[in-house]
Amino acid sequence: MFSLRDLTAAVIGAPMAGGPSTPALAAAVSNAGGLGSLAAAYRRPEDLAADIDRTRALTDRPFAVNLFVHAAVNAAAPSAAEGPGPEARMADRAAAVERYRAALEPEAARYGIRLPATDPADTDGWDAKLELVLDLGVPVVSFMFGIPPADVVAELHRRGTAVVLTATDEAEAAAAQAHGADLLCVQGPLAGGHRGTHEVEKVPDIRNLPELLTAVRRVANLPLIAAGGITGPGQAAEAFAAGAAAIQVGTALLRTPESGAAPEHQDSLADGRYPETTVTRAFSGRLARGLRNGFIDRYDALAPAAFPEVNQLTKPLRARAAAAHDADGLALWAGANFADARQEPAGDVVRRLAAAVTSP
Ligand SMILES: Cc1cc2nc3c(=O)[nH]c(=O)nc-3n(C[C@H](O)[C@H](O)[C@H](O)COP(=O)(O)O)c2cc1C
Repeated sequence: MFSLRDLTAAVIGAPMAGGPSTPALAAAVSNAGGLGSLAAAYRRPEDLAADIDRTRALTDRPFAVNLFVHAAVNAAAPSAAEGPGPEARMADRAAAVERYRAALEPEAARYGIRLPATDPADTDGWDAKLELVLDLGVPVVSFMFGIPPADVVAELHRRGTAVVLTATDEAEAAAAQAHGADLLCVQGPLAGGHRGTHEVEKVPDIRNLPELLTAVRRVANLPLIAAGGITGPGQAAEAFAAGAAAIQVGTALLRTPESGAAPEHQDSLADGRYPETTVTRAFSGRLARGLRNGFIDRYDALAPAAFPEVNQLTKPLRARAAAAHDADGLALWAGANFADARQEPAGDVVRRLAAAVTSP
């Protein structure tokens, strides 16, 4: 089974759903001695299968595939014993989604489109994607947003696949260890993209990454992968000093030639039109960090904690914004240190960061 000792660079290329993660990017990271990742989220199973084949054609090295653990399959979903019953909670949430739909109507009218129906139970093709990663014998599978069911972890292990779970605090880290994680990705508050809390409503921990790593190390006896705001050797060295065995970087790879991030996304990271990042539920209903653009300014205060429903609602709006090359309507996910993202080959990013840290 995969171990961090198989890497010559203790650097993991973050899975980045929505375009940035390409087979070329995953392979470039793996070929530089790190671990590249593919993002399964929002991909059709057949496209994910093609991504895996293409990655295998570009590298002989190990790589990872990342899946979102949607609420319907999340073994860490809140117990019905806490607070109002699940039916009352879902009714409140459905009402909040409808209020948000009404708030977004002018945006939809501007594009002349109707907002779609939403489905809180959607799993984004969980069964088909799992079958794929099992059948294709992917060396590493990582999960975001929760804990996969016990039989899934057991089956991955039976096939020799290493399992990475993501945690944002000690409780999630302890749960990940108890559910069979081989490696633990500890994601701090500066991370670009979604914060991987195991519950959608949770207010995420705001301790900085070294503090989080130190706290998690007390409760979880697993190799820790540090993620969030690492773009240079200084932050990488700090994460290792706090107990990380590897680092995971997303934003630092967004402007590489291998990145599939939209040109508007790449340009807006560099041209200063959006001077800061912020954390918002406006696009997906889950908290995520991105460049603070017009869409966030207009809708952040109105967006409910409802994933995947809000993601489903805004999908056609984001597609129209993309077609119009309108960065102001796109989810420009980026970590707080986005200004450091350079236009350099992904292998160089990996080597530059690895030079700052000891080998795994
Ligand atoms: C554009 C983008 C998309 C992301 N998509 C995913 C994803 O699909 N799955 C996942 O586990 N993490 C995702 N993340 C979060 C990364 O795994 C990681 O936690 C984050 O990039 C680390 O912070 P950094 O961006 O400052 O390096 C994404 C991050 C970005 C920037």
